[in-house]
Amino acid sequence: MLSPKLPKIFYGGDYNPEQWPEPVWREDVKLMREAGVNLVSVGIFSWARLQPNEKTYTFEWFDRVMDLLAENGILACVATATASTPAWMSKKYPDVLAVDAQGKTYYPGARQHYSPCSPTYRRLAAALVRRLAARYAKHPALAAWHINNEYGCHMSACHGEASTRAFRGWLRKKYRSLEALNEAWGTAFWSQHYYGWDEILTPRRAPYHPNPTQQLDFRRFMSDAFLELCVMERDILRAATPAVPITTNFMGFFEPLDYRRWARELDFTSWDSYPDPATGHAAEASAASGHDLTRSLKKDRPWVLMEQVTSQVNWRPVNVLKRPGVMRLWSLQAIARGADGVMFFQWRASLGGAEKFHGALVPHAGTKQSRVFREAKALGAEVRMLGPVIGSLVRSRAAIAMDWNAWWGVGLDSRPGRINYAATLAEFHRYFFERNIAVDFVHPGEDLGDYDLVVAPALYLLAAKDAANLERFVARGGVFLTTYFSGIVDENERIVPGGYPADLRRVLGLWVEEWSPCVEGETKRVRFAKEGRTVACSHWCDVLHLEGAKALATYAEDFFAGTPALTVNEFGRGAAYYAGTKFETEDLARVLDGVCERAKVAPVLRAPKNVEVTLREKDGGRFLFLLNHGVQPASVALGGFAGVDLLTGGRVRGTVKLEPLGVRVVAVDGGSARAGTGE
Ligand code: GLA
Repeated sequence: MLSPKLPKIFYGGDYNPEQWPEPVWREDVKLMREAGVNLVSVGIFSWARLQPNEKTYTFEWFDRVMDLLAENGILACVATATASTPAWMSKKYPDVLAVDAQGKTYYPGARQHYSPCSPTYRRLAAALVRRLAARYAKHPALAAWHINNEYGCHMSACHGEASTRAFRGWLRKKYRSLEALNEAWGTAFWSQHYYGWDEILTPRRAPYHPNPTQQLDFRRFMSDAFLELCVMERDILRAATPAVPITTNFMGFFEPLDYRRWARELDFTSWDSYPDPATGHAAEASAASGHDLTRSLKKDRPWVLMEQVTSQVNWRPVNVLKRPGVMRLWSLQAIARGADGVMFFQWRASLGGAEKFHGALVPHAGTKQSRVFREAKALGAEVRMLGPVIGSLVRSRAAIAMDWNAWWGVGLDSRPGRINYAATLAEFHRYFFERNIAVDFVHPGEDLGDYDLVVAPALYLLAAKDAANLERFVARGGVFLTTYFSGIVDENERIVPGGYPADLRRVLGLWVEEWSPCVEGETKRVRFAKEGRTVACSHWCDVLHLEGAKALATYAEDFFAGTPALTVNEFGRGAAYYAGTKFETEDLARVLDGVCERAKVAPVLRAPKNVEVTLREKDGGRFLFLLNHGVQPASVALGGFAGVDLLTGGRVRGTVKLEPLGVRVVAVDGGSARAGTGE
């Protein structure tokens, strides 16, 4: 269980009492109880109200909020309030303000304008957190700590003086000598050689492409700089309350922060999921990928959906509403994919400020007439019924290897063609999502012993040791697939010479001589040998040579007609596939079907289109989730699965019917059913 004090699925949301007079707080807690809320994240943006000037703290109002929560049996995920600095602070200490690559300052007036490297920010944030920790350490409402909020969301790269100094310090620690830095950065190029550490700058506005390794190191440094803040707060909190779990809210596939490094430092992971209802079924697929990432970052325990919206957000050009039933469905989807908490932004809709048109559990009109509140209350009751799933985990035999360094590297300027790394990962994830095959996101260098299949699309930057790890995975019987522009550069963003993809050549049994990227809209033809089918490909065509691999498909046009486009190499006890081009979605799915079959990786159950199926497991319990994202009823044959529907108490076996947007959560009878077979 994530918090010893709250052995329940967390249900609640961001609570911002500073926006309301005290009589409203009393109504809030009454309504929270009515809605089944058991946890609120409180104080996230309270810094200005907790500290009116450097010397004065005003915790009394916050004490009253905490007491009121405790009296009403509602627990608090207490925020450290450091996400937005008060105006007095930057007036007194302008070094708190962040600066962009053009040298322009970010001013207060919105939020998150602080520089992560400002010593003043760090000093004042630490002072606040120390006081909060001491004051609430023993408070009966405290169940968890919520550090800061969505680090880097709006401001993720500071080029100010403090950041520049800190960047130099980070580089010194990493490279130790200027020679090593010059070598790694390739400064022989364009007269970039450095003779002193103080010559080095952050990659600021420049006439042309800044040094790529400098850019890459700056991204690593910034991710680490924000992480340092988080760890600083974590250490203060942990010292004061060793038993209280600590998290900060992630944002899923958020490029600026290498969450893999972050997750290790936290007690549980959490994230804020805002799929766009306007995107149809892509919305639930995209939420699923963020859920799977958040889960994979800390595989040994459940995670928390820290924020989502009840109805509609305010920050898209058009903010499409979640139709009735969608909030419930998407909340249960998070639980289906391993969450032990379903929370919202925010509890009560603001009357003023930039987010007044953002949905909330309590809308502007109040609760009496509100569809949203009715649904929230019903969901609160259902979430309570799902208590038995607490602590259970989603177990995957398939994984997508991804790395923030590869993401940053492939996204740099001056590449042969544009590769959208996040979209590429999403495309591969969607295959597994639609097939109802459980899938994790892993680092290519981590222990892959849990997996039978690893796919690694566009793994452009790959350290030799990570390539060796993938090779060992295949040698021991794993099935691996990678795609064009993988294994091209090392961790310093330098080409590994002698034929691409250097360190993966052996396992793939091929080498790539050159590539021919396609212009927008251009397609080529590819012929699959066995099936005798010719299909279209696009985006990129590797021109490659076999060194032991077998061609499964060949190009059917251009000067490279007849050369391999898709290959497989038997290696050790396993097999390594390579796709040198981009296939259309259905053709890729066919390729991946073959790859999964080879790896003996199977869906939890075969279900109709738009029905999501997952399984959570723990000692003594397995829970089958069926979620119908379609607008038509659907029937699912349960195979060998049978048990009790936790939401209705009824027994289910054989074939079950799901209403449009309907959900079943089946506590599976002990016995014969096994994940991946339904038998
Ligand atoms: C983020 C933030 C919240 C709020 C919501 C609005 O998730 O953490 O403070 O701004 O977005 O969607």
